[in-house]
Amino acid sequence: MSFPKDFLWGSATAAYQVEGAWNQDGKGPSIWDLYSKIPGTTFEGTNGDIAADHYNRYKEDVKTMAEMGLKAYRFSIAWTRILPEGSGEINPKGVKFYSDLIDELLKYDIEPMVTLYHWDLPQALQDKYAGWESREIIDDFANFAKICFENYGDRVKYWIVMNEPNVFIDLGYSIALHPPGVKDKKRALNAGHITALANAKAIKLFRDIVPNGKIGSSIAYGPAYSASNLPEDKAALERYYNHAVWWWFDVYFKGEYPQDALDYNQKVHGAPEIYSGDLELLKSVNSDFIGINYYCTQMIADNKENVGYNGMNNSGEKNSQKENGVPGLFKHVRNTNLEYTDWDWAIDPDGLRYGMLQLKERYNLPILISENGLGAVDPIDVEGNIQDIPRIDYLREHIIACRNAINEGIDLIGYCTWSYIDLLSWLNGYKKQYGFVYIDRENNLARKKKASYFWYKEVIESNGEKI
Ligand code: BG6
Repeated sequence: MSFPKDFLWGSATAAYQVEGAWNQDGKGPSIWDLYSKIPGTTFEGTNGDIAADHYNRYKEDVKTMAEMGLKAYRFSIAWTRILPEGSGEINPKGVKFYSDLIDELLKYDIEPMVTLYHWDLPQALQDKYAGWESREIIDDFANFAKICFENYGDRVKYWIVMNEPNVFIDLGYSIALHPPGVKDKKRALNAGHITALANAKAIKLFRDIVPNGKIGSSIAYGPAYSASNLPEDKAALERYYNHAVWWWFDVYFKGEYPQDALDYNQKVHGAPEIYSGDLELLKSVNSDFIGINYYCTQMIADNKENVGYNGMNNSGEKNSQKENGVPGLFKHVRNTNLEYTDWDWAIDPDGLRYGMLQLKERYNLPILISENGLGAVDPIDVEGNIQDIPRIDYLREHIIACRNAINEGIDLIGYCTWSYIDLLSWLNGYKKQYGFVYIDRENNLARKKKASYFWYKEVIESNGEKI
């Protein structure tokens, strides 16, 4: 068996990372526009002011997508282009930009896939009521979603409400690496709960406005193994799943939390605070698919030493990652069976297949791989061609894992690589490249197709046969 006839061979980006034009045509500032300018927050002080300037060059970019034969393009809508203050007045130029982008994609038969929230919260809402820490955001987010559904729902079938709530909440509120730079587990748990409520409210509205559309959210998924057969490592693995994995998938896709992790968090952290009506709202909606962003697996061990958070490899210096853990619960250890990237992410194609089987068992929903890719410094040969062969190898092995998963009964809608074009990595600057298209930052952001571009073109043409 092979890939279904209508399989969505896609690729993805996100507004802040690719658009640039950060204050053009009435766009308001997002939390990232400000945070990235605080010294010490991002790799070498990089920010998305210009990024790939996709806002001004989207026609050129969509044309190369069409030449590649791309079937789907996943992009996110910057809330602050539509509503510069997060709520209130609509910015018609922002609404028009995404409308034009969607039309341009459809002109070439590329399915637009829209992410509503890829981390660029309006700064105005952060200032007004502390953003995701206030329940006021639920209605403001629903209003933003409604505007998008009403304006684009006639042409966009696939919608992703939230991108990786687990990442933006953990990094924003537990370890202070993302805005708003908080380190407080109680606040993280409450803010995470509020994202789930906002997700549910948006899905409710969607059913009325876009009755034939498909909607879900994307979770960063790190399936994991136990470091040994020792009972304490296996127990740590179970805690990892309940606290860090099912915690998010369950509340987004089943409307509940794993009971033991919920009991623990409420006892130890006094959160999440669940109000009457919350669980009813969460349970009242169904997603059409589970979105997963998959890059690597984890190896989990018991955390006797109470290892805490010890930083992240954001430099691309291999082996610089220190051991991280959550005191009282588990820690991450190196998996000596696997190769690692220069940013110390384990390369584990079969983990993708394994992870999807776990999801099927627990939720039995169709799956969309909304991100998968290799972050690397790409080699350029003497003729100036970008020979990103490690990326081709990475993607090939993961596509084989998808095929195997389909053969094992996974209902896989599509596969989006991260990313279509080289763009800003939030904490790793422009050094960490993911794209099929290179951007010459020394030469007016000129685009150049990499070896992987031509390779993926053939994959798509042959519907995954020629890999
Ligand atoms: C996901 C995000 O976490 O992974 C993307 O949705 C991000 O926005 C991607 O860029 C890769 O992560 P990083 O940190 O290597 O840029």
